[in-house]
Amino acid sequence: MKILKYISLILSALILCSAGAVQAKTVVAIAHTHEESHPDHQGFLAFKEYVEKNAGDRYEVQIYANKTSGSNEEVIDLIKAGTIQFMAISTSNLEPHNKKYAVFSLPYLFSSEEIYEKFISDPAVIEELGEENDKDGFTPLAAFTAGTRSFYAKTPIKSVKDLEGKRFRIQSGKTNKDLMYYFGANDITISFGEVYKALKNNVVDGAENNELALVDQKHGEFCKYYTYDRHQMCPDMLVGSSLFLYSIPEEDFDMFRKAAIEAQKVEFNRWKKSIEDAKKKAKEMGVTFIDVDVHEFQDKVKPIYEDVLKNNPQIKSLYEKARAFDKKYAK
Ligand code: GCU
Repeated sequence: MKILKYISLILSALILCSAGAVQAKTVVAIAHTHEESHPDHQGFLAFKEYVEKNAGDRYEVQIYANKTSGSNEEVIDLIKAGTIQFMAISTSNLEPHNKKYAVFSLPYLFSSEEIYEKFISDPAVIEELGEENDKDGFTPLAAFTAGTRSFYAKTPIKSVKDLEGKRFRIQSGKTNKDLMYYFGANDITISFGEVYKALKNNVVDGAENNELALVDQKHGEFCKYYTYDRHQMCPDMLVGSSLFLYSIPEEDFDMFRKAAIEAQKVEFNRWKKSIEDAKKKAKEMGVTFIDVDVHEFQDKVKPIYEDVLKNNPQIKSLYEKARAFDKKYAK
């Protein structure tokens, strides 16, 4: 953190030099790729409200929803550069920047969404993820749930066998690629905003995500079968630009941290209802929801654990923590 402290000193000096004139408010930009109805956006509205209520004399928060600031892959670079101050980004998209985040790409890590939510709300987990925040250029402040990811496709997937020979869009990260290998499916990494086009042009036969993608991203126009194999729970991290956070007074940093926790509470509260609504709308679009034997899918990808833990020892500590959590809270 030495470099950031140094930059912070220079920035503070610059602010002092320019003091005297009326202090302008600092505009804080938040970017995300979802629609305004999405729980992540609702969370960010609470973040804005908290910041402007507690420090409205110093900060103005602007939210850029719906990819208006670019794709996740582009925005994380802007976060590192300090051009954008906050964003929500899937841990899968953070794996190429810091392999620790890959822990959430492991399949069937938690036996319920309740345990997963407890885990991602634990401050010790967020702290551990952020241990190298100076090198990363981003600092995790809280985690939004993104539910459970399952496969959906143009043809029904009723068993693991139905994945064979089909090509699925995946998020970034080597662990997702490994996962598809163990499932016996073909994969292609495509940015979130490009998936609709890829489905439309038959570049892929399907994708995997929570139910919201069928409706918000309109993937249900092409994929009429959603299979509850429930393979992954990976959160959207609410990250801040390390450059920004270490350039402001410590009490302001703390205030943004609290705003992130407020945002998370609202996001969690909205989640279940959003999923129910999305399911209803997806059914109206003609999507069929298929229940499968989850154990069959789970057994198929079991070898991934040994493989990933050997090749990415950085996740070991968080992996063990997640396992202990699951053991403690599983019914
Ligand atoms: C979810 C998640 C997004 C992510 C997307 C994806 O919708 O909330 O943050 O980008 O999955 O599959 O790319």
